[in-house]
Amino acid sequence: MFKDKLEKLKSKSIAAIAAAGSTQTLESLRVNLLGRKGELTQLLKSIGTLATAERPEAGKLANETRQAIEADLSRRQAELSTAERAEQLSSESLDITLPGRKPQVGHGHLLTQVINDIVRIFAGLGYKIAEGLEAELDWYNFEALNMPPDHPARSLQDTFYLKKNKDDVLLRTHTSPVQIRIMEEQSPPLYIICPGRVYRRDVADPSHSPMFHQVEGLVVDKGITFADLRGTLESFVHQMFGADRRVRLRPHFFAFTEPSAEVDVSCIVCGGNGCRVCGGNGWLEILGCGMVDPNVFNNVGYDPETHVGFAFGMGVERIAMLKYGINDIRSFFENDIRFLEQF
Ligand code: PHE
Repeated sequence: MFKDKLEKLKSKSIAAIAAAGSTQTLESLRVNLLGRKGELTQLLKSIGTLATAERPEAGKLANETRQAIEADLSRRQAELSTAERAEQLSSESLDITLPGRKPQVGHGHLLTQVINDIVRIFAGLGYKIAEGLEAELDWYNFEALNMPPDHPARSLQDTFYLKKNKDDVLLRTHTSPVQIRIMEEQSPPLYIICPGRVYRRDVADPSHSPMFHQVEGLVVDKGITFADLRGTLESFVHQMFGADRRVRLRPHFFAFTEPSAEVDVSCIVCGGNGCRVCGGNGWLEILGCGMVDPNVFNNVGYDPETHVGFAFGMGVERIAMLKYGINDIRSFFENDIRFLEQF
């Protein structure tokens, strides 16, 4: 009786296993047979109700049947999953030759790049970077730099006043006030480079902007000469514009340096023969410089008898325009992505 039931269940199971078409059907079949409430499990439990003499034989048969079914299940499981995997591999394909999607990566503004280039060149010469305030006191922007209230040089650098009275607060017209602040705080020797944003009351046109950028340098040490200044600037020009560029100094006036000079570089377009960019004379003006005026040292408490120094200053936009052939300073600030992404 028990044996018959077992035989029936076994052949029914073997047939169902063979007929199962997927690993999913096979799994539910396994649960229905061998699970806690499965048919075979129930049958095994019923052994306990048989006569004692029949139990050993029944148990042995039942175990054999269960092992046979389990073996059949796992054989079919392997068969089906191999087939399913093969089917999946042939139906899902991945074309690794398709071009990828490139994420858009930004980069620094051209002016940031040029500032970094300039600063890196001077860092290589041993200079330290110093930064100051964009809103300055009249003292730092003008007076300490040897431009007292009625000095005519002030009119060349008219600016925007935030507060006009005894302690005038204005937008700095150059980064030279940083140099005064550093000299007030530190003693020589000093080798500093001051990059930053500056302001002047200029109407915007192709070569003027009421806001622009400068990098100025200051050296204070013992035994510094005008030849050191020239050598330093030549080294800068060669690294910035190329080793074959020539440098020319022309006498000029700055209130805070004496003697002062303007520095020209041989035209980077025609090499000095004369072209439209250099106005036909072969030279391009790139910066102003000079030996620090003794009055400036007196204003910060340095002894002009023991210390000498030089200073120079350049407009970042001008350097960038010359180097990259840009003809309108306003392009830097219009934020036209078609312009910006070229650099
Ligand atoms: N501060 C000057 C300017 O803005 C530039 C300069 C700096 C000239 C240092 C000489 C020495 O015009």
